Amino acid sequence: TASLKLGIAGLGTVGSGVVRLIEENGTVLAERTGRPLVVSAVSARDRRKDRGLSLEGVRWYDDPLAMAAEEDLDIIVELVGGSDGIALDIVRTALEQGKSVVTANKAMMAHHGTELARLAESNQAALAYEAAVAGGIPAIKVLREGLAANQFVRIHGILNGTCNYILSTMRDTGREFGEVLAEAQKLGYAEADPSFDVDGIDAAHKLALLTALAFGTEVDFDSIQMEGIRSISSMDIAYAEELGYRIKLLGMARRKNGQIEQRVHPCMVPLDNPLSQVDGVFNAVLAEGDFSGPIMIEGAGAGEGPTASAVVADLIDIARGLKLPPFAVPADKLERAVPLESDAH
Ligand code: HSE
Repeated sequence: TASLKLGIAGLGTVGSGVVRLIEENGTVLAERTGRPLVVSAVSARDRRKDRGLSLEGVRWYDDPLAMAAEEDLDIIVELVGGSDGIALDIVRTALEQGKSVVTANKAMMAHHGTELARLAESNQAALAYEAAVAGGIPAIKVLREGLAANQFVRIHGILNGTCNYILSTMRDTGREFGEVLAEAQKLGYAEADPSFDVDGIDAAHKLALLTALAFGTEVDFDSIQMEGIRSISSMDIAYAEELGYRIKLLGMARRKNGQIEQRVHPCMVPLDNPLSQVDGVFNAVLAEGDFSGPIMIEGAGAGEGPTASAVVADLIDIARGLKLPPFAVPADKLERAVPLESDAH
């Protein structure tokens, strides 16, 4: 059968990981789906940069929009990042032509997810974003498919690997915030602008997507109440520990009086709550369905390998002909989210 021709926009941590994964596991994956994934084209900012990849026989585009419009590509993989600008143009261009898109771009999905889902569905294209939420954890697939039979009571998550790494390391070593942040940046976990991580914005991007999936509402980033971890000292963490709590940055969503409440802020999590035990760069999503009861999934929330794993899982879905709606209900049936006015912290 025909191979699936990919055009990859962006060759940073995640893009390089995707190329490496397909290089290493491609043969096995082709056996699984019957459709080999072929990296046909790539586009990135600097052609000469050494990424340790052999891109022999792969077409290079300086202009990612030209690549997105290329007739003979089947799927565009958007790994450029940024909520607007070129990433959004790439995705719109591809979807308008009925080309499926796989993206890891949580900021773009958090701000434009509803619109892009409509565009994808009206053009019979897939729009898949497993890698946008919680890195290597298949959180989207678990909520949309694994727990598809449920109505959700609540979603709680550790959704930013950088913050969880910082808080865990501060606890274990007594070192302070700034020093540990620099380390998380070196490890390739942090966003290009790490204030997205430490101010809770990145966790809120992901929460907005999980909320839309769980509650069938439009993606509503703007109504999330948000607070980050900048002001937490290793002393705070040590005191919390003495009292039997761990400080974690949590994203939380629930229905309340017919409205949706979404919050991101540091929480004192009791040691007998499984979320308190999730350490380092790991993320976790604790979802409570009305019939399933609580389900927790945990794993690496950032980094090259785990995020590439999620991107390629979406490519495999498409290779298998699965074209699920991006959210839990068709995009034109998403309920308008009614933000909850509350100061409940
Ligand atoms: N900066 C993000 C994090 C990367 O630390 O979780 C994964 O989205």
